[in-house]
Amino acid sequence: MRILITGAAGQLGSDLVRHCTEAGDDVIACTSAQLDLGHRDSVARAITGARPDVVVNAGAWTAVDACETDPDKAWRINALGVRWVTDAARTAGAHVIQVSTDYVFDGTKPEPYVEWDPTNPTSAYGRSKLGGEKEVDPAHAIVRTAWVCGAHGSNMVKTVLGLADRPELAFVDDQRGSPTFTADLAPAIRRLAVDRFPGTFHVTNQGEVSWFGFVQEILGQAGHDPGIVRPIRTADLDPPRPAPRPANSVLDNAVFRLAGLPLLPHYRESLDRLLQELGATS
Ligand SMILES: NC(=O)c1ccc[n+]([C@@H]2O[C@H](COP(=O)([O-])OP(=O)(O)OC[C@H]3O[C@@H](n4cnc5c(N)ncnc54)[C@H](OP(=O)(O)O)[C@@H]3O)[C@@H](O)[C@H]2O)c1
Repeated sequence: MRILITGAAGQLGSDLVRHCTEAGDDVIACTSAQLDLGHRDSVARAITGARPDVVVNAGAWTAVDACETDPDKAWRINALGVRWVTDAARTAGAHVIQVSTDYVFDGTKPEPYVEWDPTNPTSAYGRSKLGGEKEVDPAHAIVRTAWVCGAHGSNMVKTVLGLADRPELAFVDDQRGSPTFTADLAPAIRRLAVDRFPGTFHVTNQGEVSWFGFVQEILGQAGHDPGIVRPIRTADLDPPRPAPRPANSVLDNAVFRLAGLPLLPHYRESLDRLLQELGATS
């Protein structure tokens, strides 16, 4: 399979490049310097020049709070950029997998979200990512994921390891989700690419936890004292974060379950593997 990956230097992009290369694919890894989602010509040149079988659009402007102050940049990269990708992919005859987010939901549903639930983003980032979803052809695929952690780039696991020597930490206990590890997400996306599955898929690791609970687990598994973290409420954050976050980010991987596709492992197993990779186990 000849597979072009955008955002190839990001958390997910790096592990997609690694996994697809190891699987024997012909990988065209495009960083933002090689394929800029903000410019139609750049996207068209990269995709029609490479003539891939599949394009995975893992590139995005992911600075959630910054999107609030520059929504036009969010629309340009996360929504219009997807139009340029799908247009070029049509010309090249390539299948597209668009990576999207739990932030398309408002988080008020008491149960996990299934793929068919109505969307209602509450942040500029979420609105721009939903705009991107609307640019995807029905025969192509959208993979919504959440709480992404990997060996490359910044994420909660690395943040907590960097703070573990502090006497006290405070994390919110009223936002829940499923931490999702790029080492598991990348093979799942490749599987969808190989079999050209169409439509929307929720793909996260199994299990759910609050940020507070996740931080306790990271500290404990890495041999630090989980007792240093105390739970707070989102309303107690001082200063409040510019972009609202969904209180419920848990995505039911309903299509994977119903289609008989293998679910990703429990997030605790994958956290253990990432901590080992980072050399941070006790
Ligand atoms: N992180 C999460 O918790 C999370 C949760 C749900 C969904 N997602 C989605 O998962 C996907 C991957 O996220 P991630 O965590 O891997 O994010 P990431 O580490 O921030 O990687 C995103 C990549 O996109 C690239 N990018 C930014 N602007 C671009 C542009 N104009 N043209 C081309 N590439 C551009 C960045 O490159 P530069 O560094 O060169 O700017 C970066 O390498 C995204 O679609 C994101 O929306 C992430």
